[in-house]
Amino acid sequence: MRIGGKEYRTIWFENNIVKIIDQTKLPHQFVIKDLKTARDAINAIKDMEVRGAPLIGATAAYGLVLAILENNNQSFLNKSAENLISSRPTAINLKWAVDRMMSKLSGVNSDKILEIALSEAKEICEEDIKFCENIGSNGLKIIEEIYNKKKDTVNILTHCNAGWLATIDWGTATSPIYHAHKKRIPVHVWADETRPRNQGANLTSYELNEEGIKNTIIADNTGGILMQRGKIDMCIVGTDRTLANGDVCNKVGTYLKALAAHDNNIPFYVALPSSTIDWNIKDHKYIPIEERNSEELSHIEGIDKEGNIKKLQIYPKKSKAMNLAFDITPAKYITGLITEKGICEASENGLRKLFK
Ligand code: MRU
Repeated sequence: MRIGGKEYRTIWFENNIVKIIDQTKLPHQFVIKDLKTARDAINAIKDMEVRGAPLIGATAAYGLVLAILENNNQSFLNKSAENLISSRPTAINLKWAVDRMMSKLSGVNSDKILEIALSEAKEICEEDIKFCENIGSNGLKIIEEIYNKKKDTVNILTHCNAGWLATIDWGTATSPIYHAHKKRIPVHVWADETRPRNQGANLTSYELNEEGIKNTIIADNTGGILMQRGKIDMCIVGTDRTLANGDVCNKVGTYLKALAAHDNNIPFYVALPSSTIDWNIKDHKYIPIEERNSEELSHIEGIDKEGNIKKLQIYPKKSKAMNLAFDITPAKYITGLITEKGICEASENGLRKLFK
């Protein structure tokens, strides 16, 4: 997708360096950052310079390439794999990508290992792009259907950023929207601000602006009244981990939107590549929910008149704050899962039909 009219991906490899777009600086500054070591990749994931389930998976894969470049030795590789998996706990893509890389590299001679690791990391990225593109053409059908009935702009609510910035390209939740826009179907996106890190405002709105897609940022609690007043035709969100029973773990606040959508009879879809499915955990209570530093709540970042990014405290100094990053939307509130293989019911039956 484009930034300033130029096509970018969120991550790429050049001259033995991994290049990322530093998302902590967006939308105010566009900074391409170099990752040179496995530790750089771990920190980029922890500090959310890269974020979004598929993109942190891809960064972890490249993190292993960097580990090999740094110190081509099995115990360093194993330790780096462990540290990459634990850099953020909730999105299953991290473990998925590291396990895929490690199984590809198992038993490979040290003189061949770099070449194989690099080709697998690239393959993970290419596959994600293809899957996200397919999610777009599958989800497009739902938007088209609404448009054919309504004959007017389709209003779509999304939460957090499940856009191309959260993947390698296209995005998951945004891919059907980009596809609709390319087909000249009029779409308008309500972007939930997504406190505390404001991924909806800082990233979703930003990337939609760059593609010329109409959007409006709303405070996280505004979706309910908009649904009651008929201003939302459908919701599409992403996911960090989808259980085989169809329960969805996504950015905190997703659950409340799903409840409001259910109460107002508004279709609520979740878009995901199969790398986000956790086939093992049977009950969502076993999903580790990341708790991040409460400073993300008590302080806010913005840009001053000189263009410098500044951080300000907004809470009383003595107040305690708690910052859970994800929540669970039970399958019963989900109209359907939009995957690279098609749309299915949010249930074991639905998923198994697509992914035998
Ligand atoms: O904390 P973040 O910004 O990494 O959370 C991202 C989300 O919750 C996305 O919705 C999810 O990863 C899907 S990205 C295609």
